[in-house]
Amino acid sequence: MKTKQIILFASGSGSNVENIANYFKLRNDVTISCVLSNKSDAKVLERCNRLNINALYFNRHAFSKSDFILNMLKSLNPDLIVLAGFLWKIPETITDAFPNKIINIHPALLPKYGGKGMFGMHVHNAVKQNKDQQTGITIHYVNANYDEGAIIKQAKTTIDAKDSAEAIASKVHQLEYDLFPRVIDDLLFNN
Ligand code: GAR
Repeated sequence: MKTKQIILFASGSGSNVENIANYFKLRNDVTISCVLSNKSDAKVLERCNRLNINALYFNRHAFSKSDFILNMLKSLNPDLIVLAGFLWKIPETITDAFPNKIINIHPALLPKYGGKGMFGMHVHNAVKQNKDQQTGITIHYVNANYDEGAIIKQAKTTIDAKDSAEAIASKVHQLEYDLFPRVIDDLLFNN
C-alpha cells in the first residue's frame, strides 16, 4: 500500500502538530513529509526537531509573492495539507492547485468567531466576553476566503460562567487533540 503523505502548516506552539505526529507515530501508512512555518522563532520548529520531523521556515516572498512554496508543495505531492494553527491566508494559487486537499482547524463553532484577526486567544476572549455557554472547534476545507470553506466536522464543549478565557482555550485544545487526527485519518483513507 502506498504511504500517505501529509504536510502541516503551523505558526505557533505546534501542540496540534505534536499530537498529530504522536497519533501517526506507530503507523507505517502515513508520513508527515514536512512541517512548514511562517515564523522563524515558532516553538513548532523546536518541537519538530525533537520529534525528528522535517520542518522549514518560509517568508512572505516564498509564500505569496513567488511560487516557491506552491512549487514545493507540487513536487512533494501530498495527499493532504493540514493547517494546524497557521495564521496566514492561503494564496489562491495554492488553493486552486489543491482543491479539497487543504483543511484547517478553527477554535470556535464557525460561522461564529471566524474571519481575519479571529485566531487563538482572540477567539476565546471574544467567546468569554459574550458570555457564550458553549464553544467548540470546526475542521473545514480551505478556500480563498478565511474560515469559509465547507465544514467537515464540528465538536462542542460547554462553558461554565467561572471559566476564564484560558480555561476555555484548554477545553477547546482537548477537543482538537481528540478529533483532529481522527478526521485527518478518515480523510486520508475513506475519501
Ligand atoms: C489552535 O487552537 C487552532 O485551532 C488555532 O490555533 C491554535 C494553535 O495551537 N487556529 C486558529 O486560530 C486559526 N484561525 P497549537 O499551536 O498549540 O497547535
